[in-house]
Amino acid sequence: MGLKSGRHFLQIPGPTNVPDRILRAISRPTIDHRGPEFARLTREIIEGLRQVFRTSGPVVIYPSSGTGAWEAALVNTLSPGEKVLMFETGHFATLWRNMAVQLGLEVDFVPGDWRHGVDPAVVEAKLAADRGRTIKAVAVVHNETSTGVTSRVAEIRQRMDGLRHPALLLVDTISSLASIDYRHEEWGVDVTVGCSQKGLMLPPGLGLHAISEKALATARSARLPRSYWDWEAMLEDNRAGFFPYTPPTNLLFGLREALQMLFEEGLENVLARHARHAEATRRAVRGWGLEMVCLNPEEHSNSLTAVMLPADHDADALRKVILERFHLSLGTGLGKLKGRVFRIGHLGDFNDLMLAGTLSGVEMGLALAGVPFTKGGAGAALAYLSER
Ligand SMILES: Cc1ncc(COP(=O)(O)O)c(C=O)c1O
Repeated sequence: MGLKSGRHFLQIPGPTNVPDRILRAISRPTIDHRGPEFARLTREIIEGLRQVFRTSGPVVIYPSSGTGAWEAALVNTLSPGEKVLMFETGHFATLWRNMAVQLGLEVDFVPGDWRHGVDPAVVEAKLAADRGRTIKAVAVVHNETSTGVTSRVAEIRQRMDGLRHPALLLVDTISSLASIDYRHEEWGVDVTVGCSQKGLMLPPGLGLHAISEKALATARSARLPRSYWDWEAMLEDNRAGFFPYTPPTNLLFGLREALQMLFEEGLENVLARHARHAEATRRAVRGWGLEMVCLNPEEHSNSLTAVMLPADHDADALRKVILERFHLSLGTGLGKLKGRVFRIGHLGDFNDLMLAGTLSGVEMGLALAGVPFTKGGAGAALAYLSER
C-alpha cells in the first residue's frame, strides 16, 4: 500500500485525535523537573484538573495508562481479602474485576448483559443485604467504552447515602472525563479514575485521580502493598510542585495546553458538543436500520456509539474495508463483542465536519462490505447537525 494522502480519521474511542496545539506544546524542550518553572506547571495543571473533575480536593497525576490508575485506586484504599462490589457492564468492568481478584480482594461481581449500565436499585439491594458492612468499596465504570453505555453515578450515590452504607465509591471516568457530565465532589465519589488519551485529547501516558477526604483517611490504614502508587508521597511532593519520581514533563506541557483549550471553549460547551455529536450519530445508526449495543435510552454514551452488525456479518471485516478505503479507524468489538460490534468514537477534539466525514465513511463502508442496511443514515445526522 502506498502513501495515503490527507488526514487519517482516528475515530476509535480513545486514544483520540491530538490537536496540533497540544502536539506543539509537547514538543517544547524538556525542563528541570526540580526547578521553579516546573513547580509552577504542576500547580497550574492540578488546579485545572480540579475544575475538570469538579472537585476542590486532591488530584493526583501518575505517569501511567488508565490501568495503572485503576490499580492505584484499589491499593490505596483497600486491604487484602476485603470485599468490593463490582458490576459486569462490559469488557473494562470485567478487566477491573480481574485486577481486583489478582490483588487479593474478594469481589462480588454482579452479572450483566453488556447492554445496560449499573442498576442503582441493585446497588441498593446488595448494600441493604450487607448488614455486617463487609463491603468496603463499590466500583463502577461510568462510561463502558466497550459498549457505549453510561451508568448513573449520581443515582448510585443517592442509594448508598439512603442506606448510610460506609463503602467507598470508586468510579472509572476514563472515557467520560471532559466528555460527559461528571461531578466528583457533588456526587460524593471517593476516588475518580481518569486518564489522558480520551476527552483530554492527549496521547496515552497519564493516569489521574480525584480523591475524597474519606478516601485519604481510609488510605492511612489500607494494607494492600503499594509503593509507586502511594498517594502520600505523591501529595507531599505535589504540595511543593514536584513529584516523588521523574514526571512525564512533556506530557504535562500537553496537559496544560489541553486544559487551556477546554477552558477557552468552556467545559459546559465541551459537554454540549459531545451530546450533540452523540445524538447525531445515533440518528445515523437508526437511519441505517442498525442496532446499538446500548438498550436503555437513558444510558446512551455521549463519547462513543457501539453498533451491532446483523448476524453473519463480521464487524472487523467492515472496519478493515473502511480503514483501507477511507483511512478511517473505528473501534473494534472487545471481549465477547469481538466481530459483532464496531464502535464510533466521537469524543475529544472533534467537530461537525469530522463527524460528517466519519459517518460518510461508515455508510460507504457498509455498502462496500455488503452489510444489509438502509441508505441515508449519514444524511439524517447532517440534517440534525444543520438544524441545531
Ligand atoms: C473505561 C475504561 N477503563 C479502563 C481502560 C484502560 O485504560 P488503559 O488502556 O489506558 O490502561 C480503558 C481503556 O480504553 C477504558 O476505556
